[in-house]
Amino acid sequence: MTFHAPFPAGRPRRLRRDSFTRNLVREHALHSHDLIYPVFVQEGERRRDAIASMPGVERLSLDLLLPVAEQCVALGIPVMALFPVIDARLKTPNGDEAFNPDGLIPRVVASLKSHFPELGIMTDVALDPYTSHGQDGLLDDTGYILNDPTVEVLVQQALTQSHAGVDIVAPSDMMDGRIGAIRDALEEAGDIHTRIMAYSAKYASAFYGPFRDAVGSSANLGKSNKKVYQMDPGNSDEALREVAIDIAEGADMVMVKPGMPYLDIVRRVKDEFHVPTFAYQVSGEYAMLKAAAQNGWLDHDAVMLESLLAFKRAGADGVLTYFALDAARLLRQG
Ligand code: PBG
Repeated sequence: MTFHAPFPAGRPRRLRRDSFTRNLVREHALHSHDLIYPVFVQEGERRRDAIASMPGVERLSLDLLLPVAEQCVALGIPVMALFPVIDARLKTPNGDEAFNPDGLIPRVVASLKSHFPELGIMTDVALDPYTSHGQDGLLDDTGYILNDPTVEVLVQQALTQSHAGVDIVAPSDMMDGRIGAIRDALEEAGDIHTRIMAYSAKYASAFYGPFRDAVGSSANLGKSNKKVYQMDPGNSDEALREVAIDIAEGADMVMVKPGMPYLDIVRRVKDEFHVPTFAYQVSGEYAMLKAAAQNGWLDHDAVMLESLLAFKRAGADGVLTYFALDAARLLRQG
């Protein structure tokens, strides 16, 4: 296939000569509507705690989160994703606090939806912020993460979130069969509008380290890892099988995670399934770019926007990113 006349008739640089031509022929663009903003919420009032490994990201109490939600609306960010910091005293081996209807997440969801009904709210369905051992599921005597009993708890958690008024539930646990079980339970409960964004291809990645500091699960997790349920970084075909299963079980949207090191997976998923596909630029990716920028080694705003545009080019319909507010502000300025 020839796309171009041979040199000198064909000179690709003609289309790069000035900014109007570059703007005219650009194939992909980033918009604030492509961004989902993940935030960390904690109990209390006027509480704002920095997270050392995620410069610029803070754990906020609800009163301080409301103005952030307002900014998302003003900037055209369609969805905020909530992650809870759970009091250590409420953590148990089975993570029962995850489906407490009066727990932190249901209260925060209800408040955000009443103040900003037009802002989409998404919640994580996973037990790791709630378990005393920091794993995403229930353990047997040997420490193996049980699948089916965990799915039963995840269903309760998703229903609790849905009843609190959340728009999107996002199971990030990687148990088998959880999407189907949650979808059935939502239908049964009459919650037919609750959307499911499945963390379908979620890898056992070392890039989640700063997130685990943020929700306070890293100390509990200790030296153990999540390789018996999250995917092996060496696999690519398996991601397609996972996505196929989640679509068949009733997912409305699928996700690949982490992001930048897995853009090949994003592209394969989009090409194969043509469904709404998202990617998560995770905490470690954020930390990496921030650290380099703070050292003056990289241009913060330029690498931020370039990294996010790369997700669009790879086929993602949207990106979960801790840069969402900063990026949306820059995009607004043009
Ligand atoms: C919980 C969950 C994790 C992330 C999102 N949901 C951590 C994990 O699986 O250990 C990571 C997000 C990030 O690193 O930014 N299941």
